[in-house]
Amino acid sequence: MSTTSDNYVRIFDTTLRDGEQSPGAAMNLTEKLRIAEMLETLGVDIIEAGFPIASNGDFEAVREIAKVARKPVICGLARAGAADIHRAAEALEHAERKRIHTFISTSPVHMKHKLQMEPEAVLEAVVGSVTLARSLVDDVEWSAEDATRTDPDFLCRCVEAAIKAGATTINIPDTVGYAVPSEYQAVFEMLINRVPNMDQAILSTHCHNDLGLAVANSLAGVLGGARQVECTINGLGERAGNAAMEEIVMALKTRSDAMPMETGIVTTEIARASKLVSSITSFPVQYNKAIVGKNAFAHESGIHQDGMLKNNQTYEIMTPESVGVKETSLVLGKLSGRHAFRAKLEELGYRLGDNAVNDAFRRFKDLADKKREVFDEDIMALVDDEVGRDNDAVKFVSLRIIAGSEGPQEATLKMEVDGEMRETTANGDGPVDATFKAIRALYPHEARLQLYQVHAVTGGTDAQAEVSVRLSEGGKIVLGQGADTDTLVASARAYIHALNRLLTKRARTAPPDMDLTSAEGV
Ligand code: KIV
Ligand code: ZN
Repeated sequence: MSTTSDNYVRIFDTTLRDGEQSPGAAMNLTEKLRIAEMLETLGVDIIEAGFPIASNGDFEAVREIAKVARKPVICGLARAGAADIHRAAEALEHAERKRIHTFISTSPVHMKHKLQMEPEAVLEAVVGSVTLARSLVDDVEWSAEDATRTDPDFLCRCVEAAIKAGATTINIPDTVGYAVPSEYQAVFEMLINRVPNMDQAILSTHCHNDLGLAVANSLAGVLGGARQVECTINGLGERAGNAAMEEIVMALKTRSDAMPMETGIVTTEIARASKLVSSITSFPVQYNKAIVGKNAFAHESGIHQDGMLKNNQTYEIMTPESVGVKETSLVLGKLSGRHAFRAKLEELGYRLGDNAVNDAFRRFKDLADKKREVFDEDIMALVDDEVGRDNDAVKFVSLRIIAGSEGPQEATLKMEVDGEMRETTANGDGPVDATFKAIRALYPHEARLQLYQVHAVTGGTDAQAEVSVRLSEGGKIVLGQGADTDTLVASARAYIHALNRLLTKRARTAPPDMDLTSAEGV
């Protein structure tokens, strides 16, 4: 189906913007670039790459993604102020195809308490912001924040004014996840019926999952006439998250009889995209999550297994292969060479530079020495643990532990901090405590450890441990992950990963406050 067909649904991915706003999901530039590359391979139509005025990091990420992702439209978010819009345009300078996405709240509760603006002033800001954005780029999206709690007449006036000012996409966010499907569908039908120039713009859904209805609402919006869906991989996002892309895409594909629409998503890349986002953000995917959960295609009950053996359509409405789920295969061993390793990385979907391949290969060799069987999951865990950490300020070097029932347990840790080698020995209440105390001694910080979790990457006593650590500092939450056959080394790596993320997050400042009624506004 052509992208201009009436039934083509554009996929607008906001994993790197709304998804990244979820507590603990902050990503560095290298990580964002890896996700952007994945999104391009996946075939998304629009990548919302960030909120350029929010921080220099966000600005740089949008700018760099715009340079490398040439097929999708690259989008930058901006509030309804001149500074935001100019910053977004600047970040998008090198994009082959660029979009500014500007928004303002339109619901009574947001206008009164958040913006402290009268509706007429908001309407003026809509016209001013869209006009300015349109003077800078040809593709402008306007969002009515908290649209589902907005007065319908006022929403129609704002949408009509935004289109008249040059908006090419109109987004109707269910910002607080309040809508139910029938109601959300009716908003789109109303806009199509009542807004005279509605045929000059594409309507878009943007649903949050506070009541668990984000996907259902997005699909209802499509049935109501939306032809763009805003979503994130794994449903990542603030609070309960955004609508999950994989669920929307597979629902449209599997139930094309009920919803005769199409997307441009290469569905066989879905599993890989899900794993990448999960490993980069350290947000686990729940086992029974639709489409990408570990159990999504597992059949354990006898009745189900019997039916599946006779015909897989008895209990399977789509195949695991259609979303890129493959059987776990035994892969490489001790004798495998660099060439085979590189080929395996490509098969698993990693496109790495020579240095990254060399680093990963070194760790693979170490692993193959310790572990009899090396599975795909092992390789993915070690690559995810290695790639993108070159520029980290704090690096793990080595760890020696004295543990056992006769304490005190002792950790001797070597770390590189800003290029300088540091070493210390610390005692603790158990080897993990001793290790974390050693990290604190070498890099003093106030962050509190909120979560420490270990799981085995594969079966067997020689399995790699994958450790997750969550730290919090002054309201900032970060997650880190580390993998190793030695659980304590994995723990140190995970803590250090979280610490590096905290440093990235500390460097971010809140966007400057914007006074829409002053000359700074538009
Ligand atoms: O949820 C929301 O309203 C948003 C807007 C910025 C589009 O994320
Ligand atoms: Zn949102």
